[in-house]
Amino acid sequence: MLAKYFKPSLLKKIAAGAGTPVYVYSKAVFLKQIRAYKKAFRATAPLFCYAMKANSSAGLCALAAAEGFGADVVSGGELYRALRAGFEPGKIIFSGVGKTPEELEYALKAGVLFINAESFEEVLELERAAARLKTRAPFSLRINPDVDPHTHKFIATGKLGTKFGVSFEEAQKIYMYAAESAYLKPVGAQFHIGSQVHTAAPYAQAAGRLAAFILKLASRGVNLKYADVGGGWGVKEGAEMADLAPLARAVEGVFEGTGLKLVLEPGRSIAAPAGILLTRVIYRKRGGHKNFIVVDAAMNDLVRPALYGAKHPVALIGPGSGPEAVYDIVGPVCESGDFLAEDARLREPAAGQLIAIYSAGAYGFSMSSQYNSRPRAAEALITGAAAWRLIRRRETYKDLTAPEIP
Ligand SMILES: Cc1ncc(COP(=O)(O)O)c(C=O)c1O
Repeated sequence: MLAKYFKPSLLKKIAAGAGTPVYVYSKAVFLKQIRAYKKAFRATAPLFCYAMKANSSAGLCALAAAEGFGADVVSGGELYRALRAGFEPGKIIFSGVGKTPEELEYALKAGVLFINAESFEEVLELERAAARLKTRAPFSLRINPDVDPHTHKFIATGKLGTKFGVSFEEAQKIYMYAAESAYLKPVGAQFHIGSQVHTAAPYAQAAGRLAAFILKLASRGVNLKYADVGGGWGVKEGAEMADLAPLARAVEGVFEGTGLKLVLEPGRSIAAPAGILLTRVIYRKRGGHKNFIVVDAAMNDLVRPALYGAKHPVALIGPGSGPEAVYDIVGPVCESGDFLAEDARLREPAAGQLIAIYSAGAYGFSMSSQYNSRPRAAEALITGAAAWRLIRRRETYKDLTAPEIP
């Protein structure tokens, strides 16, 4: 159980030192997930590119880089962060459906491994950028394999009809065009079917289609080096680890003997279990038939429950009073959708008591905002049995207005 990595006595110290709300990450859990990936895929030793969108905090990214991971970035800002965090440029891939000419140039100058393009127009823009820089742009294409990942519709990306990737037919045209270009170097093909995917069958199906396509391309003289199966493998809220064996079984065999280097882009399955959101009870109240616990974290800090109906396990730090009852844990933001947990079974907390919201390490802080002019939370990293450090200070009111020009 994850609770053993987030000891109440240490959480109380962190809350006292850093204030609340605060994201608290466990270095041990983060590294455990990274090493589990290496172990599960030891037969093929792929290039792992940590999907920074899940959590781009420098304190965590540096850990991934030190473990030999590359990074998957989706904006110039993430590329900037990746380079600062210590990822080798030659292990960074740049994904995303709408890269600007400036971002493409930035990536080429930085020397990324490849740019994962998502349309013919983007490839033409990349060609112009490479011509300006008098270089050849290494690129892959994100191909939409048209499989159903059986996940929330906002995070399902592998079906035709979403904005992501190109069809196999379109991809073939683009690769044949690129093969003739002095400024383009086709090196890979990629898919990413969605996020929080719990079944391996769609990966096996998509990988099979990708491998067949890459072989067909080779028969036409375009030889790729990388087969990138994206990220998206799910981890249940509250679970300590994702079971990676089914994913490895689904994709490794498909590329065996092809000479292709496998690439994976895991994000959530690495970061989610490694983080909690620690918040403090402000008030208790009743509204109609409901019991509410009003805490100092809100949807601007953790939007997943409001956005996807995500159900994060919650636990009181220290004992509550009375018998267990059912509570909604809500924040101070002026939206009825501002809840962190619905129908949570807890004993009654005292005002001022701490509550831990588990499995919040991925798409938590990285999706946070200043909505309602709430300064973003602090982030802390547990580095040992009783040791922790701040990896991002809490924002201040001054941070809210600093970029404004009255
Ligand atoms: C291109 C790409 N790669 C990797 C990921 C990481 O997915 P996850 O965090 O679910 O592993 C995403 C997330 O949506 C993505 O869009």
